[in-house]
Amino acid sequence: MAEMMPHTHIIGTGSSIPNRILSNKDLESIVDTTDEWITRRSGIKERRISSKEAEESTTDLTTQASLKAIEMAGVSPKNLDMIVVGTVTPDRQFPSAACMVQEALNAQNGMAFDVSAGCTGFLYALSVADNAIRSGTCGTALVVGVERLSTILNWKDRGTCVLLGDGAGAVVVASTREKGGILSSHLKSDGSFWELLYSYYGNSYTPEILQGIDIKPFQLSMDGNRLFKQAVKCLSSIANEALEHNSISSDDIGLLVPHQANIRIIKAMAKNLRVPMERVYTNIHKYGNTSSASIPIALDEANREGLLSKGDYVLLVSFGAGLTWGASIVRWSI
Ligand code: UT7
Repeated sequence: MAEMMPHTHIIGTGSSIPNRILSNKDLESIVDTTDEWITRRSGIKERRISSKEAEESTTDLTTQASLKAIEMAGVSPKNLDMIVVGTVTPDRQFPSAACMVQEALNAQNGMAFDVSAGCTGFLYALSVADNAIRSGTCGTALVVGVERLSTILNWKDRGTCVLLGDGAGAVVVASTREKGGILSSHLKSDGSFWELLYSYYGNSYTPEILQGIDIKPFQLSMDGNRLFKQAVKCLSSIANEALEHNSISSDDIGLLVPHQANIRIIKAMAKNLRVPMERVYTNIHKYGNTSSASIPIALDEANREGLLSKGDYVLLVSFGAGLTWGASIVRWSI
């Protein structure tokens, strides 16, 4: 019976941001760029760069963000049935970032795995946890978006290295009979556009071929201009799909929390959806594009700043490598 189905509520949020700030001014001495260009074209003023030595590995950032979310949720790590991490920059090819954090949290009672969906990784991960809760497989889950894109950037490519940054965000979701929480998730991908955003190399290349090449493996490549146009189109249509599915209008949205890729993309989407910028959360000026971490970091900051009230409709919407894109509507529970 539909009313007997459990609902998935977000009961805790957390985030972790590396200490080191790299400003646009700093970047002027690294590549041929200006603060003015970066600010005007992207809205970014500074970003955070992690360091393993400063205990800011992917596992460290994930653990710190998770502990804050777990504390807010008031659950024990032992009660986590699932840890699912959206990332393309785990510390190791394997085991997963999720298994690494499972050990760090001493949360060995459930399953742990990663989801690779580019910047949409967090929304994919959230949907996996939501489905597990609705089906009754899982009672409590930790969902994380974490990225250390600084480790895979080509620091000679001004078209990409000025845009991205590092960080982690987490939520704890739990099953309750109370209506609300995650109302629906809408996920899409189109692999025919993969060349718009990808990393060079990987397992399809033999180690020999890397010898003598003056570039780091896994460097990120992006066709920003074509990506921009796809982003605005896909974000607007998936957000509309989510609104229509729940029979709510953009006037009902308390806060739109979009992936933070470019302030111009965010403004164009908000305009298409007719959501005024006062109801759109942005922190891109501080952190740049942190890929799968951007939505959970923004959600945690909005939550801790008191911008979300119980019962508010929150629209999460993201777009990234794959191409992947998605939207979720959440009836806020905290
Ligand atoms: O996270 C999800 C995936 N990411 C995205 O969705 C990002 C989508 N794309 C974007 O955000 C924008 O396309 C960018 C910010 C990457 C670029 O903005 P744009 O308005 O599309 O600029 P453009 O790529 O068309 O480049 C314009 C000019 C070029 O020079 P010419 O050919 O006009 O002489 C570039 O070489 O700007 C030049 N340029 C730069 N100039 C100064 C590119 N990067 C820089 C730079 N500083 N950092």
